[in-house]
Amino acid sequence: MPPGPIRGLRFVHTAIRNETASLADRAASIEDPAEVAALGDDFGLLADALIGHAIGEDEGYFGTLDERAGPLCAAYSQDHADEKVVLGKLAEAIASCGTADELAAIQAELAHLRDHSDAHMSREENELWPKTEELFSPPEQGGIIQAILAVIPKEQFPVLIPWIVARNPDDEAVAYVTMLSRVQPPEVFARTRTWLADGLVPAQWSMLCERVEALA
Ligand SMILES: [Fe+2]
Ligand SMILES: [Fe+2]
Repeated sequence: MPPGPIRGLRFVHTAIRNETASLADRAASIEDPAEVAALGDDFGLLADALIGHAIGEDEGYFGTLDERAGPLCAAYSQDHADEKVVLGKLAEAIASCGTADELAAIQAELAHLRDHSDAHMSREENELWPKTEELFSPPEQGGIIQAILAVIPKEQFPVLIPWIVARNPDDEAVAYVTMLSRVQPPEVFARTRTWLADGLVPAQWSMLCERVEALA
């Protein structure tokens, strides 16, 4: 089975993997509990990305897949629900951390979040994506990607899209923005272009302008 458009989800998986690992590493290097609050903004962006991605899969993908493949996705949706609870608790803990014990708990929870989301995404990649490629034509898979994008809260896009691009290696960032240029209606891609120009560091934005035809 050739790789299909459903693998467009890999860009957000890569970004989530890189950011959960980075935050777990940063937390692990902290010795003074008062320094934990500095992780709050980056943790908030990660939590928004995780929740947006989960909503996209729950509402734009899993129902469609279950309809054709039989019940496959309930455990994945349960993971999303469990993760949302963990994210809420971690946000509170990061905002109020004051003791060495609280710091140690946050370090352990962030390492657990990294491992748990990595394992969850690996299962999606190894079980759900091949099933989707087997049962859905490439245009149908493109439709699923569009359905996922359609249910992610619109107000997240100006931050979420540059956040994903910035956490992918150059070749993948080029492939992601090229994919968006093909699945988004022209007026939506015009907005994406503005969000990228505003949200990326200049070097990555220039690289994309040189390599993505639709940005020229
Ligand atoms: Fe998921
Ligand atoms: Fe996923």
